[in-house]
Amino acid sequence: MSASSQRAAKLLSAALGSGGLRPLAQGPLWPSGVADDHSPVEFSVAFAENEPSIVRMIVESLGSHPHRGSNLAEAIGVLDVLNREFDLDPGQLDLVRDLFLPPDPQGLFTFWYSLIIRPGAAPAIKVYLNPEVRGRARATGLVREALTRLGLGKVYPTVAGHALRRDQLDRFSFFALDLVDQQRARVKTYVSHDGAAIPDIARAAAAAPGVDAELLSDVCELACGGTGPFTGRPLMSSYTFLSGDTGRPSGYSLYIPIRDYVRDDLEACERVHAIMARYGLDPAPFDRALASIARRPLAEGVGLIAHVSLRLGKPRPGITVYLSSEAYGVTPPRSNARADLEGAVRT
Ligand code: TRP
Repeated sequence: MSASSQRAAKLLSAALGSGGLRPLAQGPLWPSGVADDHSPVEFSVAFAENEPSIVRMIVESLGSHPHRGSNLAEAIGVLDVLNREFDLDPGQLDLVRDLFLPPDPQGLFTFWYSLIIRPGAAPAIKVYLNPEVRGRARATGLVREALTRLGLGKVYPTVAGHALRRDQLDRFSFFALDLVDQQRARVKTYVSHDGAAIPDIARAAAAAPGVDAELLSDVCELACGGTGPFTGRPLMSSYTFLSGDTGRPSGYSLYIPIRDYVRDDLEACERVHAIMARYGLDPAPFDRALASIARRPLAEGVGLIAHVSLRLGKPRPGITVYLSSEAYGVTPPRSNARADLEGAVRT
């Protein structure tokens, strides 16, 4: 991606906002939830068979004196710049803006970007909104209303029936929109599953067509080192809706916070290799991505490999690996890996 790298770095710097000018050595002024060390950026690479890899960056824009209000103002300022530069279509966002951007936002975050870099193409941009921005109790109502406004009101019962079955344990955690015209825009709803076991995940996945349940179950086991329940950070489902979807989502993805289920990144790396083998994917592009970002031996920390996500069903299955910049710090390896993993292998 060398031809895209300069433009991608400029885009990242624009998206970070004025808070991005703060020298790293001064430490974070804002506890960004994007990454465990509070770095306001996280990289990911998407792999699929016979396709070039796609690099993405999740970014939280920060004000120079970061707090919820100034960060949101900065993000909206960034949006104006990106709209002009890339001729984005914020129409979908405008339909739900007042729901997700209240004057007194609550929760982990208010507005994150996903910057999507593909070789030989203009960057694509997605925004993440927070269903809990008006408090946890209102998340379901907010997502339901947003789907209705986006013309997807009919999908709600499918999502609820498959993914929101365990009171309090299953909850909407992100809502994402592509900043392109309505015909092409994807709408994604994310549900976190606290303490889920494989059958809970399988049921969530079955909402989408063409999901290979055996692949899903094998990969959960490979990633988490057991069949669950998964009591570390929650596994998360996402449904992708395309314009015209009525009853069911077009796609399903599962996000696994693998860093909570391994001792260190060496173990995480071995598990990513096993998952790629199960998917029939060549591990070399992943190894290159990891080598390009690692600044320490893999066994000397945990969380460089933060999440693994699985795309199932159409257009084609693939995996994405999320890599932390560790710009502000490294989490030491877990010494009591066995005790931690007991949670994962208990049946
Ligand atoms: N750091 C947060 C978390 O672990 C949010 C987040 C960043 C995230 N990248 C992600 C969540 C990838 C799921 C998948 O939950």
